[in-house]
Amino acid sequence: MDRIRITGGQQLNGTIPISGAKNAALPLMIASLLTPDTITLKNVPNLADVSLLIRILRNHGVDTAVDGKRANGNGHQGDTLHLTARDIVDTTAPYDMVRRMRASFWVLGPLLAREHQARVSLPGGCAIGTRPVDLHLTGLQALGAEISLDGGYVVAKAPGGLRGGVVSFPKVSVGATHNVMMAATMAKGETVLENAACEPEVADVASCLNKMGAKIDGAGTHTITIQGVEELEGATHTVLPDRIETGTYAMAVGAAGGEVLLEGARADLLPSVLEVLRQAGLEVAETNRGLRVARNGAGLSAVNVTTEPFPGFPTDLQAQLMALMCRADGVSQIRETIFENRFMHVQELARLGADITVSGDMAKVRGVAALRGAEVMATDLRASVSLVIAGLMAEGETVVNRVYHLDRGFERLEEKLGSCGARIERLSS
Ligand code: EPU
Repeated sequence: MDRIRITGGQQLNGTIPISGAKNAALPLMIASLLTPDTITLKNVPNLADVSLLIRILRNHGVDTAVDGKRANGNGHQGDTLHLTARDIVDTTAPYDMVRRMRASFWVLGPLLAREHQARVSLPGGCAIGTRPVDLHLTGLQALGAEISLDGGYVVAKAPGGLRGGVVSFPKVSVGATHNVMMAATMAKGETVLENAACEPEVADVASCLNKMGAKIDGAGTHTITIQGVEELEGATHTVLPDRIETGTYAMAVGAAGGEVLLEGARADLLPSVLEVLRQAGLEVAETNRGLRVARNGAGLSAVNVTTEPFPGFPTDLQAQLMALMCRADGVSQIRETIFENRFMHVQELARLGADITVSGDMAKVRGVAALRGAEVMATDLRASVSLVIAGLMAEGETVVNRVYHLDRGFERLEEKLGSCGARIERLSS
């Protein structure tokens, strides 16, 4: 297993290109199951989760191709992926695949819409919480799906096809919104999703589905209306920039100091995050090439944050902000309301000398004068990158173990940080 070694104390200066969003690319790839025609996705990040989903989709019969290097490419524009589900040859998504990537559970809706049946393994729990799928199932049932559980699998059938309905989600769920929205594109009649997730990735998927011929209104708000159509066709779509990667590198600049252009980043995708970072003492400016983030000389101020669905502060940046607050002036209170077990980084940050106490869903971070490098590891993607951020400001060497978590969601992390002056290297085993 690879490890990453960081020698702290170097400022970051330069340009970091922001990749396409993992959490949009995955559902966009899954949307290819809805049509026999080809879906071409541009700006797809080169990540372990994308490769795994390609394997999962192939198992359903999807032909996949990735464009090779292009003469005018600068290597930072992401991959172009062509996905063609001419015939669905298998409507089962096996446990061995779904357990490795929860988002693959979202094939349920599209398979049901196109094939009127699916058998998809329950994903099981994961490091950040229990993560049930009840909202996905009740949503699909509202569209007429008959659902039963058999040996750890969800068995779903809609013999005469799905029909439109009203789905009022009791809780905001990104995944359930994607799943039911994709299913509803080919249901008979109108579907209304109330209390839908309004994350930018949902709007991005809806925009691609509309290019495919779907009739979706209101994606990006809490009420989405879908008029079902008979069939969908091929389309070409460019994945939007990754707001979590953007926020992560902005916090890395906050941690290390310096000035970096986050190329291609869009301020409208992370309004609450930028506000929090400004409160913490970072300078953030929008330019026509992206976001310029700087911390020159000034110290960090403590901020209080509660994670919330979009447009609130995202849970996927909670760990990174906590790392940053370890060196802030004062006490920062960070409340996690989305996942019940997403403080796994606290004990690892403590190994670097952080002073954090957790009580229920609240972490209190008392800023310390210095962090000191140590060997650490984390059990999920965002927690792992929070340790990289801490390593950038720690004295001496920090070694982050279990780098495969980072490879799931951060493309060429050590190259992007290294090109701006970080002393960071991958140690291959
Ligand atoms: N929930 C239920 N029942 C359900 C579905 C969700 O109770 O049927 C609960 C969850 O347990 C959680 C809350 O609702 O407490 C929100 O979960 P959501 O369904 O929104 O999460 P998700 O769709 O499984 C996506 C992202 C996560 C991100 C969350 C929240 C992808 C591939 N994953 O997960 O990203 O944290 O939304 O914004 O889009 C990551 O990228 O590291 C990551 C974990």
